[in-house]
Amino acid sequence: MDNPFVYGEVVPASAFVDREQELDRLTRDLLAGQKVFLISPRRYGKSSLVQQALRAAAKARTLAVTVTVSSYSSYPAFLEGYARALVTADTAPDRIRRWIADLLGGLRPELRLEPGAQLSLSFPSARTKADVSRLAETVFALPGRIAELRRRKLAVALDEFQAIDAFDAGSHEVEHALRAAIQHQRQVGYVFSGSEPSLMERMLARNRPFYKAGPVMRLDRIPADQFAAFLEARFQKTGLRPEAGIGAAIVELAGNLPYDVQRLAHEVWDDARVAGVRRVDLDQLHATLRRLLNEHHAIFEATWQRLTIPQRGALRAAVLEEGRELLGADVRARHRLAGASGVQASLAALVRDDVLAKEGSRYVVVDSLFREWVARRTF
Ligand SMILES: Nc1ncnc2c1ncn2[C@@H]1O[C@H](COP(=O)(O)OP(=O)(O)OP(=O)(O)O)[C@@H](O)[C@H]1O
Ligand SMILES: [Mg+2]
Repeated sequence: MDNPFVYGEVVPASAFVDREQELDRLTRDLLAGQKVFLISPRRYGKSSLVQQALRAAAKARTLAVTVTVSSYSSYPAFLEGYARALVTADTAPDRIRRWIADLLGGLRPELRLEPGAQLSLSFPSARTKADVSRLAETVFALPGRIAELRRRKLAVALDEFQAIDAFDAGSHEVEHALRAAIQHQRQVGYVFSGSEPSLMERMLARNRPFYKAGPVMRLDRIPADQFAAFLEARFQKTGLRPEAGIGAAIVELAGNLPYDVQRLAHEVWDDARVAGVRRVDLDQLHATLRRLLNEHHAIFEATWQRLTIPQRGALRAAVLEEGRELLGADVRARHRLAGASGVQASLAALVRDDVLAKEGSRYVVVDSLFREWVARRTF
């Protein structure tokens, strides 16, 4: 039997918990041709939500296209990948060539069939900056033209969108070009999702092209009780007997971060299978946690070694005090930390390095396993 818990990839519908309102709203917005910004910290479930929404939109005959902006090494490479995704979306293979000639012929594209029948599309004639700008204009206009020619709506997801900023060294030219193109595309819904909230928020500032371009969705955590109930139901459905409260214990230990919750549940499930036991209880959970900490020891050790001494102190205090009142005299005395401004600087560095995240006035360790490692293996 397959492990019902999935982490490290977009979750299939069967492992997708809650997010009903978000899904409903995102799907409706895409179908209505809105340009949606979707923002959350890493591993909250943006990509999974977007794929669910695209599946729902596709059921309504919409052409769905996804591109992960951060996976391209240059602006022209992004344009090529984006163009390819657009022209091949739900297109019969024998039509693709003609389609490309019709839509992109003026740019003298080169087509190649890569091993594994992947089609690659490139524009070798785009050499100068002006060529690339022209290419961008054509590619960014493509969704609107495709919608018109095929008489279908489009839903376009540009994931890890914050990476667009790096293509023009901060001049915002790319944002301008994209924004200018999409505002005329009434039949095309867009979702721009990004996992660096500060970069994404900055993109929405008054002086930037995407200011007021469309609705903004900020993804929150999944309610802990729903996640816990889902875990227990899945254990049960796959023939295991979860002890009462084990779902809540997993969610809590995983800091209720969707990725961490599914990781811990997945590993607990595996261990139960290997041990041949039916019952999943707290002892089991802690045995799995110990195994995971051992497996991650080298990598956590390296992270720890990279920190300065004041940062180590601030991190330990954040773990042991659950991220609260870290600048207060009490906490600083208890953990032998230096002055408040030094602690503040250490915390800021830890946030910059993605070790800690700020939630309201609290500092939480981003990786819940690392949090447990710091709590148990450092002094
Ligand atoms: N709705 C959900 N229900 C259950 N688990 C989820 C859900 N959304 C996400 N997860 C869990 O979190 C993991 C990360 O999800 P996903 O890749 O969608 O997040 P993301 O925000 O796009 O992350 P990244 O910042 O790494 O791109 C998934 O592999 C899955 O384990
Ligand atoms: Mg993602």
